[in-house]
Amino acid sequence: MDFLAKLVLSVLITPLLYGLYLASQVLWPYVKSIPLRRRLAHLPGPPVTGWFILGNVPDLVRTPVHQCMAQWTERYGKIFKVELPNTTAVVLTDPEAVAQVLKVERFEKLTTSYQNMEKLTAEQQPNILTEPLSAYYKAVRRAVTPAFSTANLKRFFPRLLDITQRAMAGLEAAGPAAALDMDRLAQRLTIDVIGSFAFDRDFGATTDIAQPNEALQVVGELMTALQRMLNPLNRWFWWRKEARWLWASRRRYDALVRRALEDLRARPPAEHTLLHHLMHLTDPDTGKPLSARRLRCETALFWIAGFETTAHAIGWTLMFIAGSPERRV
Ligand code: HEM
Repeated sequence: MDFLAKLVLSVLITPLLYGLYLASQVLWPYVKSIPLRRRLAHLPGPPVTGWFILGNVPDLVRTPVHQCMAQWTERYGKIFKVELPNTTAVVLTDPEAVAQVLKVERFEKLTTSYQNMEKLTAEQQPNILTEPLSAYYKAVRRAVTPAFSTANLKRFFPRLLDITQRAMAGLEAAGPAAALDMDRLAQRLTIDVIGSFAFDRDFGATTDIAQPNEALQVVGELMTALQRMLNPLNRWFWWRKEARWLWASRRRYDALVRRALEDLRARPPAEHTLLHHLMHLTDPDTGKPLSARRLRCETALFWIAGFETTAHAIGWTLMFIAGSPERRV
């Protein structure tokens, strides 16, 4: 066979093989999950309307997940099942039942759903959120716990007030007629709170709420890029625009984390800060301080972990307060 024929053949065969590989990525997990699906068949749950292999994913794509879950809770009660391509998930919305389940040892830590959070930096390696209950995980957890102690949070409180007042001054300057994205403002707050609490630095996101801010921009963009990667098409077809966008956002975030850590090495953070604890942690796997790589991964995770979680909590709280004048103080 001459060179040209081989080339044409491989151009035709490569997509076919990749297609088969992708099909196996969906089919094999589905087949493996059949016994579990049978065991949970008795539970109530939303019907599967589209392709059986997709389960309830089309519903979750069409309607925002939290709204879907709220509707299903109303319809199917406190325990129901949701069919996913690789498993059947059991949803518990009863706090007492959740507390009981969390005490069962084999439910101690499920890291699979957070694998995406390893793609924060170029390293792509486990961090406190995605690492199972290993000696390394326990060491990081133990090391950062003092930063979250009540005494430490109380010490930090005046700084928190300063940051909030800075944001309030920005709101007042904008005036009552201004239309402002409160969730974005809450994100600015979280950038500065984490900046101060974790890094002992002022990232200035609340200094002028009308101005762009680099940390806000980079962290916010990475979060959006990570969310888009929940769509498996963006993971499998790595040449798609969204996938390339994730790489670019990750590179920018990586650079931000590296710069922050270089700055902290030159001017170490105060003893009560999160980064101080991480920088002085002995890695149980090596008996030495955390490698630069592990330190970058943990720093990247903590920065992200407190960002949208807290901002959305603030955003929703404000929305509910705004809708319930009798609850305002
Ligand atoms: C309202 C705000 C927050 C919410 C709703 C929230 C939510 C959560 C949830 C649900 C988990 C458990 C994940 C799981 O194991 O399934 C978690 C873990 C974690 N969160 Fe948050 N979080 C918030 C704020 C923060 C902040 C401010 C930080 C740090 C600056 C943070 C750092 C972490 C870390 C490191 C873990 C992993 C803990 C471990 O596996 O031991 N979170 N968060």
